Amino acid sequence: MCGIIGYSGSRSSLPVLIEGLRRLEYRGYDSAGVAVANDGDLQVAKQAGKLRKLEEHLRGVEIKGTYGIAHTRWATHGEPNTINAHPHVDTSGGIAVVHNGIIENFTTLQTSLQEKGHKFRSQTDTEVLAHLIEENYTNGATLERAVASALRMVEGTYGIAVVSATEPGKIVGARNGSPLVVGIGHGENFVASDVAAILAHTRDVIYLDDGEIAVVTEDGCRTMTVEELPVTKDIEEISWNLEQIEKSGYEHFMKKEIFEQPDSMRNTMRGRLLLDEGIARLGGPNLSPEEIRQIKRIVITACGTSWHAAMIGEYLLEEFCKIPVEVEYASEFRYRNPIVHDGTLVIVISQSGETTDTQAALREAKRKGATVLGIVNVVGSTIARETDGGVYIHAGPEIGVASTKAFTCQVVALALLTLWMGRYRDMSLIQGRKLVEELWSIPSKIQTILEDEQPIIDIAQTYYKHSNSIYLGRGYNFPVALEGALKLKEISYIHAEGYPAAEMKHGPIALIDENMPVVFICTKDSAYEKIWNNMQEVRARKGRIIAVASEGDTEVAKLADHVLYVPHTMTPFTPLVSVVPLQLLAYHMALLRDCNVDQPRNLAKSVTVE
Ligand code: M6R
Repeated sequence: MCGIIGYSGSRSSLPVLIEGLRRLEYRGYDSAGVAVANDGDLQVAKQAGKLRKLEEHLRGVEIKGTYGIAHTRWATHGEPNTINAHPHVDTSGGIAVVHNGIIENFTTLQTSLQEKGHKFRSQTDTEVLAHLIEENYTNGATLERAVASALRMVEGTYGIAVVSATEPGKIVGARNGSPLVVGIGHGENFVASDVAAILAHTRDVIYLDDGEIAVVTEDGCRTMTVEELPVTKDIEEISWNLEQIEKSGYEHFMKKEIFEQPDSMRNTMRGRLLLDEGIARLGGPNLSPEEIRQIKRIVITACGTSWHAAMIGEYLLEEFCKIPVEVEYASEFRYRNPIVHDGTLVIVISQSGETTDTQAALREAKRKGATVLGIVNVVGSTIARETDGGVYIHAGPEIGVASTKAFTCQVVALALLTLWMGRYRDMSLIQGRKLVEELWSIPSKIQTILEDEQPIIDIAQTYYKHSNSIYLGRGYNFPVALEGALKLKEISYIHAEGYPAAEMKHGPIALIDENMPVVFICTKDSAYEKIWNNMQEVRARKGRIIAVASEGDTEVAKLADHVLYVPHTMTPFTPLVSVVPLQLLAYHMALLRDCNVDQPRNLAKSVTVE
């Protein structure tokens, strides 16, 4: 989604802004722009397309100034062209605004501003903000006062940064439903939609909350509400470092993140597994043993890959905690008037902690009185701050748009939650110890899969020109089929359907012929016998079978055209190993098809609009 960076200091702002935009590229965008102010003058440059287009456009243009704002846009209102790219300016050309979010009442505001003589140039909702600020920037009002007055007239969501040519060194930032952080440096300060943009300069940040405004200059930051009441904010330290948001020798972030999985999963588990007691130790959820025993029902809600992790959570929690669990798309949950009784625990899962639908589902659940736990990666994100408690997955920054290490770490976090809650309910010490021991062994098992990519590359070379595929799994591996198919379609643009293997007979079997690759996840788990029959059915129709199977299973090779072996593990943890070759398969297919693996078309890393 859109990204914001703003700078005020003593350096030339343009290189800082461009570098910040580069760090935000992973979020997904279709145009980029900057506004730099100097000596009462405001220079704006913007271009449709990738950042390099903007850089080419800026070559030979002199842009001077020590404060400015910049943006990467992911189009919502108005096509992704240069005019609609941010920053947007007011009629006088002295105020520039960058904006993430959606201004819902922009048509009404635009009409009344046009009647007052404001000239609009773009089809965006954002431009209305620049004119509205201009309209309120009168009678000696400061920029922050004009911004606050304008925002009080606005309905919708925003993270914004605003500069004015007539107030040197000042950036006004504000947030409502779209994140904004202030980076505190030495003799220079920043605003950004995402810490990745400013991590090269500072790790000290102030997270704005909804309805708050920051007035940032090179000397400091003052915060207030949209109603112009002062607020005091704490400075927090980001735990991520610069190296973690760089490729470290890998060709793509996705590949780096796939290969980081053994370490990131160990980080999710670190200090949390107690073998002797057969339990996980979790302080974050803030639930007493008595409260755990009183849980009657769990609803897990999330989007995309996090929703797939949620499904595995459902199986784990039902099997080991004996609590009924429902999994629901956050986008459905939020509008469905869901039933939340006493004893309902809601769990929201989100890598970014900023997904709009998941945030809205969390708020709906809280409105109805539920205790809401979060399973989140990004520390300090909106979802992490709004939940009653939760488990950080500690996967480290995930930059590739296709989620990989966050998925496996989310599943590990759900396993930890299961162990913790299960041991205060029905789970025996023996069972708890077995799970703890096996969970701890998973990272080294994944390491062995990563050590030999060649069989996966061979399969990718065989099938990368196909335009369809089916992924089938049962039990714990049904969500893996969904996740494998999602990975393939989002980065290689090959149509892929994930299905519970037995459902195939009820429709998708019609698609099977000698041109259809069918990926079976058929590890030696409790669903093994059953999925074997489904493989026979595909074979009988000449489908091409790619099997993900347990090491040592020689039988499967008699039925499948290709086999990708993974180490054996207990049934509930098979998704953690079986998903890894599927991530790599998607990666290599996309590479062979010359796709942009880290920034697939139309996709954003975190979906912060409805
Ligand atoms: O940040 P979140 O986990 O809330 O994001 C949810 C989905 O947008 C995300 O998982 C998306 O499906 C990924 N592109 C999948 O690879």
